[in-house]
Amino acid sequence: MKIGIVGTGNVGSTAAYSLVLQGIGSELVLVDHFPALAEAHVMDILHATPFSYPVNVHGGTFADLAGCALVIVAAGVNQQPGETRLALLQRNAEIFAGIIPPIVRAARDAIILIATNPLDIMTQIATKLAVQEGMPASRVLGTGTMLDTGRFRTLLGQRYNVAPSSVHAYVLGEHGDSEVLNWSGASVAGVPLDQFALASGQPLSAEIMQQVDQDVRRAAYKIIAGKGSTYYGIGAAIAALSRCILFDERSVFTASSVMTEVEGVPDVALSLPHIIGRDGIEMTILPTLNAEEHAALKQSATIIKTHLQSIQY
Ligand code: 2OP
Repeated sequence: MKIGIVGTGNVGSTAAYSLVLQGIGSELVLVDHFPALAEAHVMDILHATPFSYPVNVHGGTFADLAGCALVIVAAGVNQQPGETRLALLQRNAEIFAGIIPPIVRAARDAIILIATNPLDIMTQIATKLAVQEGMPASRVLGTGTMLDTGRFRTLLGQRYNVAPSSVHAYVLGEHGDSEVLNWSGASVAGVPLDQFALASGQPLSAEIMQQVDQDVRRAAYKIIAGKGSTYYGIGAAIAALSRCILFDERSVFTASSVMTEVEGVPDVALSLPHIIGRDGIEMTILPTLNAEEHAALKQSATIIKTHLQSIQY
C-alpha cells in the first residue's frame, strides 16, 4: 500500500511519522516544493523504522505518486498567531491550482485527503480541480472536524473521568470558528451525556457547556500562540483516517466533503459524520439536531459558502 504526502511542513511530516509508527502503508512518498525539506524528513523518519515498521519512506516528485492508494495534501501556508483559518484562503487556493492537477494526473485511482486550511473551502477547491481532471468528486475528502471532534471528546473525557475513545460526541460544520458542537447527540455507553453527567455527580451546566465549547473552538489559537502551529493531533487524525481508508474499516469520522445541500445551503463542503472505507465516503449520517444546532449548522454552511464565493477558483 503506497501513500503520498504532498507538503512536508509540520502537519505533513507529523502525519508521515504517525503512519510509520503505526505501520500504516508499506511505501511512503514525501513531496515538497522544497525537496531538501522532504529529504530531511525522509532521513529522520527512516531512522524510526528500526523501532517501528519497515516502511519504505522516500522523497519524490508528483510523478512518483503513481500507484498511490492515498495522497494526503498538507501543502500551503498556515496561521500566524491570532490569524483565522479563513484568512489563508486566497494564498492556499493559488497553491492548490498548481498542485492538485499534477497529483490527479499521477495518481488517478487514489483517494485525495486534504489537510490544508481553511479546510472545508480547500476541500471544495480540490474537489473541483480533481473533477476537472476527470476524477470522481467522491474520491476527495478533507480531515474536516475530526480534530475538533477529538478535542471535544478529550475535554469531556477529562471532565467526566472516562477515556475519550468511550465518549461519543461530534463536532459538525466548518473546521473553524463557526463549528457546531453536537451536544444533544453526545453519549457515553449509550446514555445521553446529560444523564451520564448527572449520574457522575457533575451535572452538565450551562457554564460547563460554555467552557468546553470555548476550549474546543479556541484550542488551535491557544496552541499556535504557544508554539507556532498544531500538528500532533492532526497527525494522529490523518493516520487514523488513512488506516480506515486503506483497510476499508468503515469507521465513522467527521470528514469534510462537498455536500449537495446542507440546511438549505447548496453545494458546500463541511463535516458531517460519514462511514468511510476504501472508496472514501460510503455513507453520510445525518445526526439528529436540536433547533439551536440546526441554526448553528446553517450559519456555519453559510459562512463557508460566502467565503468560497469571495474568491476566484
Ligand atoms: C487546528 O485546528 C490549525 O486547523 C488547525 O489545529
